[in-house]
Formats: sequence, C-alpha cells, structure tokens
Amino acid sequence: MRIRLSLVLLGWLGLAGCDLSATYAPATADLENKHVHDGDAARGFSLVASGSYGCAACHAIPGIRTPKGVAGPPLAGMARRGFIAGQLPNKPGVMVAFLQDPPALLATTGMPNVGLTLDEARDVAAYLYTLEQPDAE
Ligand code: HEC
Repeated sequence: MRIRLSLVLLGWLGLAGCDLSATYAPATADLENKHVHDGDAARGFSLVASGSYGCAACHAIPGIRTPKGVAGPPLAGMARRGFIAGQLPNKPGVMVAFLQDPPALLATTGMPNVGLTLDEARDVAAYLYTLEQPDAE
C-alpha cells in the first residue's frame, strides 16, 4: 500500500513537473509586440548612457562598461523577459509606465522614480526592447 502510494505520488510529481514547464513557458516572452509607439531606441540608449538617470549605477547594461551596478537586475535580455520586476507583464505600455514611475505600479519596488518624461520613457523602453541576448555584455 505504501509503495503504491509513493508510486502514485512519483507519477503525480512527474506530471506536475511537466505542467510546471508549461506554466513557466510564457516567462520567456516572444519578441513580437515589443514595438514602442513613438520610441526612439538610439535616443533611449543615449539617455541611459548619459549617466543622468543613474541606470548603470544600479544595473549592468550591455555596451556600458562602467559602472555596472548590482542593485537591480542586469538589463541584458530584457526584451525576452516575460515580466518586468518579476511581476508586471512585459508589454510596451507597461514598460513605459514602469520606467516613468516604478513605485506607482509596484509599491515595494527597489527601483526609484528617476524622473523620466513620457517621451524619454518611450525612448528608453524602445532601447530596452533591443536587448534580446541575455548574455550580452
Ligand atoms: C537606485 C537604483 C536604480 C536606478 C537608478 C535605476 N534602477 Fe532600474 N531597477 C532597480 C531595482 C532595484 C530593480 C528591481 C525592481 C523590482 O524587482 O521590484 C529595477 C528594475 C528595473 C527594470 C526591470 C528589470 C527586470 O528584470 O524586470 C528595468 C527595465 C529597469 N530597472 C530599468 C532602469 C532604467 C532604464 C534606469 C534608468 C533610466 C533605471 N532602471 C534606474 C534599481 C534602479
């Protein structure tokens, strides 16, 4: 009886394993729908690289050698992530709103409002969606 129960449990866990991979699949987002209306990726990179907003002081960012901050997650592969800050759906409108005022969307987030205007947030979001490779440096 015991053995049979554990076999049933093992089988169930096996199935659960399969289910989990299916559940987690959306976390690696498709690259469709990553177009930011009125966003200019080149301008976005200039804003990020200028240092004015401290992005690189808190994040490792491809193409920016120093600083490579560790307070926030590396931004390489941001286009492929299913979630922003692990919680919000990674869609252009949400990304723009998050960049403009992170605590407005996630009260306990460690990312501060760095004062991007709407236009700047669009440009930065467009730039972030060019970051497709998770291991880019
Ligand atoms: C003071 C540190 C700090 C600064 C400055 C900062 N961030 Fe963040 N950022 C964070 C932290 C911490 C998180 C993680 C938030 C969370 O998980 O709630 C984060 C999260 C993010 C995310 C989501 C990452 C993910 O993997 O989901 C993006 C995108 C982002 N930041 C972009 C930027 C950009 C672009 C700038 C500059 C305009 C910037 N950050 C400036 C600390 C910072």
